[in-house]
Amino acid sequence: MAILIDGKKVAEEIKLELSLKVSDLKANGKTLPGLVAILVGDDPASHVYVNSKSKACAQVGFISKIENLDDRISEEALIDRIKYYNDHNDYHGILVQFPLPNGINEKNVIEAIDKKKDVDGFHPESVGNLVIGNDSFFPCTPYGIVELLLRYKIETEGKHVVIVGRSNIVGKPIANLLLQKRKGANAIVTICHSAADDLTKYTLQADILIAAIGKPNFIRGNMVKENAVVIDVGINRVEDKNSKKGYKIIGDVNFDEVEKKCSYITPVPGGVGPMTIAMLLENTYKAYINLTKN
Ligand code: GUN
Repeated sequence: MAILIDGKKVAEEIKLELSLKVSDLKANGKTLPGLVAILVGDDPASHVYVNSKSKACAQVGFISKIENLDDRISEEALIDRIKYYNDHNDYHGILVQFPLPNGINEKNVIEAIDKKKDVDGFHPESVGNLVIGNDSFFPCTPYGIVELLLRYKIETEGKHVVIVGRSNIVGKPIANLLLQKRKGANAIVTICHSAADDLTKYTLQADILIAAIGKPNFIRGNMVKENAVVIDVGINRVEDKNSKKGYKIIGDVNFDEVEKKCSYITPVPGGVGPMTIAMLLENTYKAYINLTKN
């Protein structure tokens, strides 16, 4: 039986640490960290994510605002709103929830965000700094995975980390983070993806397997080495007639099969997901400190 990595609990610890910092700021009469989340259109999953982010801000005492824009908005008008918040002193972090409607170029939107407020860590300059090991905003999900491994004292040094998935949001940044020559990293990293003719050949080599594919139950028991650590990044909505909502959330890992073989595993929900939000708050606090230090 594997040990469950309780991301919900760790995320609560991080939020408690941040709320103590906010109490200090309040006691000293300082302005508070602020985050604006821009949501375009009415994608139900995006609404859920943005509301969770805003609720988490309130929980730690940050200022937060959701700006809900019509899905017919032009790219220019969206970028104008971003520029407005770039210049707004109350908001230290700007998040534009993805995906955006067809016709809006995500690359242009990301590049419009002030690098100092890039709490998602998606700006090309943040990405470049991460790759070469400079101080940077780390994308929240990979940052959350690193934090989980650290807090559970899971050794990464010299271990073989195999990542399934090569997205800009998870696969590529987690590879770069774990490759760094420092404590909590220094791993041997392989990224594999859908072009592999036999993914199992790679996944079976993993001391730490990170599944970020976006396909429910994709990683089966026979794809995992005995005693591996398994990190499930998947958030897949599947129909569930027994649930009031009509759906449930499951991961990329077939939990029942894999947990019998591995040493540690993150559940879905309650594993990586809550950490993504906690690290967004960490990044917002960092942006606030950098922007207000003079
Ligand atoms: N859509 C899916 N994941 C993310 C994320 O981490 N940040 C943003 N802005 N949009 C997303």
